Amino acid sequence: MAYKIAIIVGSLREGSINRKVARSICALRNDNLDCSMVEIGDLPLYNQDFDADPPEQWVRFRDQIREKDGVLFVSPEYNRGIPGVLKNAIDVGSRPYGQSVFDKKPAAIVTVSPGSIGGFGANHQIRQAAVFLNMPVMAQPEAYLGHVTDDSFDENGRLKDGPLKELVTNLAHAFHDWVDMIHRSRAALSEDAAHSSASAAKAKEHA
Ligand SMILES: Cc1cc2nc3c(=O)[nH]c(=O)nc-3n(C[C@H](O)[C@H](O)[C@H](O)COP(=O)(O)O)c2cc1C
Repeated sequence: MAYKIAIIVGSLREGSINRKVARSICALRNDNLDCSMVEIGDLPLYNQDFDADPPEQWVRFRDQIREKDGVLFVSPEYNRGIPGVLKNAIDVGSRPYGQSVFDKKPAAIVTVSPGSIGGFGANHQIRQAAVFLNMPVMAQPEAYLGHVTDDSFDENGRLKDGPLKELVTNLAHAFHDWVDMIHRSRAALSEDAAHSSASAAKAKEHA
C-alpha cells in the first residue's frame, strides 16, 4: 500500500530547485509514496481573529493535510531561516488550538540551496516547529542539500545521475521506511490495546 504524502514546498518560484528535488524524491519511490504537492502560495496570512470563520484557502489546506499519512517539507533557506510563506502555512495548519492537522504525522525535512551549507538554518527552524507540533521527524539521513543548481537536473526536471541523486535516493527510501515504521507501530499498539481491553472485559464477566 502506498502512503499518502503531502509535500509542502517553501518556495513559490516557478523554476524552484526545491520543487524539482521534491518531485524527484517521490518519483524515486512512486510505488510506495503517493505524493501530492499541497500549495501554500494562496494562504491568507494567519490571523487568530479568523479562527471561528476561516478563509476557504485555510480550510482547503487543512483538509489536504489532514487526509495524508505523512508530510515532506522541502524548502529553501531565506536569510538563514524559514521562508515566510512556509512559516505561515505551518501556522495555518497548526490552529485552532488543539485541532492541528500536523499532530502525529510522520515528517521529513529537506532543505536545498545553491549555497554550501544547504539551508541548515531553515532546516532546523522547521524541525523546531515540527517538534512542538508533535510530528515524529525523521532524524537521519539529515538533508541539507548544498551546491544544487539548475544544472543538477535534466531537461525533464529530474536529478541527473551522481552523488546528489544517490543521496536523494537514500533519503526517499529512509522516508518511506520511517512513515511505514510509525504507522505499523501505531497499528500494533492499538491492536494490543484492543486485545487487552477485550481480555479485561472477559475476565470481569467471569469474576
Ligand atoms: C530572500 C532570499 C534570501 C535568501 N537567503 C539564503 C540563505 O540564507 N541561505 C541560502 O543558502 N540561500 C539563500 N538564498 C538563495 C536561495 O537558496 C536560492 O535563491 C534558491 O534557489 C531558492 O530556492 P528555490 O530555487 O527553490 O526557489 C536566498 C534567496 C532569497 C530570494
